[in-house]
Amino acid sequence: MKVLIIGSGGREHAVADAFSRSSTVSEIIVSPGNAGIAEDFRCLPLNGQDEIAGFCHDKAVDLVFIGPEQPIKDGLSDLLRAEGIRVLAPSRDAARLETSKAFAKQLMLKHHVPTASYSLLRDESAAREVLAKCSYPIVLKADGLAAGKGVIICSNESAALQACAGLFRHSAGSSGILAEEYLQGWEVSLFAFCAKDTFQTSLFAQDHKQLYDQDMGPNTGGMGAVCPVVAAEEYRQEIEDKILAPVLTAMKELGCPYEGVLYLGLMITQQGPKVVEFNCRFGDPEAQALLPLLKTDFMELCLAMTEGRIGKLKLEWMNQAAVAVVLAAPGYPAAYKKGIRIRCPQMDSKVFFSGVTREHSDLISCGGRVLTVMNMADTLDNARAAVYRDIESTDFPEKVYRKDIGKRKNLLF
Ligand code: AMP
Ligand code: GLY
Repeated sequence: MKVLIIGSGGREHAVADAFSRSSTVSEIIVSPGNAGIAEDFRCLPLNGQDEIAGFCHDKAVDLVFIGPEQPIKDGLSDLLRAEGIRVLAPSRDAARLETSKAFAKQLMLKHHVPTASYSLLRDESAAREVLAKCSYPIVLKADGLAAGKGVIICSNESAALQACAGLFRHSAGSSGILAEEYLQGWEVSLFAFCAKDTFQTSLFAQDHKQLYDQDMGPNTGGMGAVCPVVAAEEYRQEIEDKILAPVLTAMKELGCPYEGVLYLGLMITQQGPKVVEFNCRFGDPEAQALLPLLKTDFMELCLAMTEGRIGKLKLEWMNQAAVAVVLAAPGYPAAYKKGIRIRCPQMDSKVFFSGVTREHSDLISCGGRVLTVMNMADTLDNARAAVYRDIESTDFPEKVYRKDIGKRKNLLF
């Protein structure tokens, strides 16, 4: 079978790698991909939805896998389905679970799904009223997509008013700003493989969002991930029964059944698991730690979702632990340096490329998150040791990375 992957990051590199282990996949194309992915897979620029659909018809592509949220929000999955092309991604309407935080919150409130309480601040005067009365700290979020960087935690009213002013300036046209109760606990990510109202869940994974060790510094798109997170297993049933089942039933009732990968960002609180966010796709860098552990044929998993038989699929994982560490450019997540030459020697770890381009025969950095190094082993400690050894031998001057991925106390593998 021929598969076309849409996207250009480390997540899409890991998705391509997962398809390459499938016994039924004969050809993998990534669009646009990047110069690093192109070392392993065919990359091809396709400009716009019509060109993608035309390519799928001409080349008889069997499945399109959409990696990031933006093309889904732009309607690519709807267009491909309308053209009779098989696609693994939710519809634009179903993807509102990610693309509108207000939509997701309203749905959770209506169906009693555990999440932080919230108010929707439609304008600055509504914001002043709510912020004068609420308890602190409070979490402010823009309603639309913000690449993981749109969340501000405010410890008092004046900080919240200032943050609100900035968010309103940058979110003109959206339905407003969410002010959320601050949840205390520890975070974990879970992926649901959904076929309308049936689903199966993945291993748990854990992202490391802050830039510096010990979870200090600014939030980023994610600086590293580990999988599995055994300490979260005791909550799996509760998450499936109290979160996933009601949300998928509600989506079906709304006329936009969810088909594809649904990402649950969860906070494990003293009252149990609560939803921090949904995403309509795999996480980056969680996918780089999760997918290498998948034993089930990835194409078979995708087809089980598109053909509505996910409930019957035998989903199997390797009995190992994976650690994925992001190497970023200096300055990230603010303005970052570009054009740094990168050389990865032959190594035991896998390298998944994000922000790289080619200049003559060299790979050079062009993004904030540049690449992810992943290894897996029988224990988390062994996987960590292998990853950090290989990072040492990666020739990437000025690389910025966390030294403590996989060291959190709640990871008992
Ligand atoms: P989001 O963009 O909603 O994924 O939020 C990004 C990050 O901000 C999350 O991974 C959490 O670390 C933090 N965060 C978001 N919402 C809350 C909340 N209600 N309470 C505590 N932390 C939060
Ligand atoms: N790892 C967080 C995200 O993909 O949004």
